Amino acid sequence: MSVRIAPSILSADFAALGEAIAAVERGGADLIHVDVMDGHFVPNITIGPPVVKSLKRIATVPLDVHLMIEEPDRYIDAFADAGAAMMSVHVEVLPHLHRTVYAIKALGVKAGVVINPATAVASLSEIAGDVDYVLVMSVNPGFGGQTFIPRSESKVREVRALLDRAGNGAPVEIDGGIDQRNVGRVVAAGASIIVAGSAVFHTPDPERATRELKAAALGAAAVRR
Ligand code: DX5
Ligand code: ZN
Repeated sequence: MSVRIAPSILSADFAALGEAIAAVERGGADLIHVDVMDGHFVPNITIGPPVVKSLKRIATVPLDVHLMIEEPDRYIDAFADAGAAMMSVHVEVLPHLHRTVYAIKALGVKAGVVINPATAVASLSEIAGDVDYVLVMSVNPGFGGQTFIPRSESKVREVRALLDRAGNGAPVEIDGGIDQRNVGRVVAAGASIIVAGSAVFHTPDPERATRELKAAALGAAAVRR
């Protein structure tokens, strides 16, 4: 199974997002991960549909939009119109998750479901056959630059097994605290979309950091195969 790298622009300079995206695309980024935060579900506030629309104009790879917001149903149309190719929503805020997943798919957007570190993998059991991807949070969402929570590695393995049992080859994405040191482990556990913010943008050369992270991830995937 191949691995895709999704640099998170949360850790980039918001005054120069165009340059940040161009740099990671030169480094081989497969997706651009866009963190949407509302100051309610998570403490931080980031960006909304107008910024996604501008990013869409300049990005040459698909936009992976991670909604860390309450009531995501109110905004999925706007993010789809803005150009999201993938959109993920948190199980923790959705009593009618199945409806939301199908509403996202109906817009022609890949639908992902996200679980926080304290959320059980079992919360995905009834939706595992329906999702286009699952995002395992390996930090508590809200900020870049946090430390990877080690338990996440076995969670990735459990989610991969759950999807396989459901007959769903959908990828497992991992987000939070991923860097050169731990990327091999999470890929070996079954992650195939790798989000990285500070490990890419808090370096002197984001292009090179992307290239190196991707090489490490692909190396681990080759062994997994
Ligand atoms: C955290 C966000 C992440 C964040 C990752 O709430 O969902 O996407 O940007 O940043 P790092 O890789 O620095 O943990
Ligand atoms: Zn994210």
